[in-house]
Amino acid sequence: MKVVEQIKAPIRMEMELFEKKFYQSMSSNVALLNRITHYIVNRKGKQMRPMFVFLVAKMVSDGEVNERTYRGASVIELIHTATLVHDDVVDDSNRRRGFFSLNALWKNKIAVLVGDYLLSKGLLLSIDNGDFDLLKIISVAVREMSEGELLQIEKARRLDITEDVYYEIIRQKTATLIAACCSMGACSVSSEDDESTKKMKKFGELIGMAFQIKDDLFDYTDGPIGKPTGIDIKEQKMTLPLIYALNNATKEEHKWLINSVKNHNKDKKRVKEVIAFVKEKGGLIYAEEKMIAFQQEALTLLNTYPKSDYKDALELMVNYVIERKK
Ligand code: IPE
Ligand code: IPE
Ligand code: MG
Ligand code: MG
Repeated sequence: MKVVEQIKAPIRMEMELFEKKFYQSMSSNVALLNRITHYIVNRKGKQMRPMFVFLVAKMVSDGEVNERTYRGASVIELIHTATLVHDDVVDDSNRRRGFFSLNALWKNKIAVLVGDYLLSKGLLLSIDNGDFDLLKIISVAVREMSEGELLQIEKARRLDITEDVYYEIIRQKTATLIAACCSMGACSVSSEDDESTKKMKKFGELIGMAFQIKDDLFDYTDGPIGKPTGIDIKEQKMTLPLIYALNNATKEEHKWLINSVKNHNKDKKRVKEVIAFVKEKGGLIYAEEKMIAFQQEALTLLNTYPKSDYKDALELMVNYVIERKK
């Protein structure tokens, strides 16, 4: 059995029902919107976030999920989708999940509005059902994600990012949403103040950090991952491999790197040279080490729970985060 199927085995029924509910949660009376949401659901991603919601809920409650868990999973995936739609506008990226991105097909204007629509549908799903505890968790994540993306833009303009600021960016833009998945999963079957809700938040945050470092490593490969690679440097996004290379470069090399990212970031040959330099300096190896450190910390936290099928699946999931091929 493939690892993803192994992970999904204890939540197979939940994921099937989730897909139906998720699609329903996007419906609208505007024909253009329906065409676009149809396009979105037909090109689904890995759905790791809802998987986290269900696995955590079942692990902390001995196999119980309820309507709140389903709504929590839908809200998270709606918000994740909204973020990706907006992110591709911000990053000027034309591919997503192996197909054209919304901005590539329908232009930025429509992508911005569709992103807003999905975001509001997500928030309303919680409000309309009185899930205020879940709403609080998700709203904090939405705020942090916007702050993270903006901090990233600020740093891309000034090209003065440090390793610590990098961690802060990825914590905000990516890890907070995965933290929200895990704490929402726990909260949906218990309460806000439950110990598991807090512990699972930390667990999700650690996984989220590893998850984004993996994503940033993908950008240095040319594997078929369903979205463009080499785009981070083009967008002057300095991620961990490059930060490490900069910190370990001679004065001359440092100058060359900064000049490349600042003034030659659209020159394909130059970007390739930068990537080669980062590899040679050990930037990828260093980022991998850091990624593994976050993953190990997440596993340690997970191991404070007793053995169960759900816990085993979560363990596989934590490993999948760093071993995945897309
Ligand atoms: C992509 O997330 C955005 C990041 C936070 C790096 P995923 O890799 O989970 O995207 P999909 O949903 O599977 O396409
Ligand atoms: C992901 O950052 C952050 C989000 C909140 C979407 P990226 O810009 O690296 O994500 P991808 O690589 O486009 O999926
Ligand atoms: Mg992007
Ligand atoms: Mg990326």
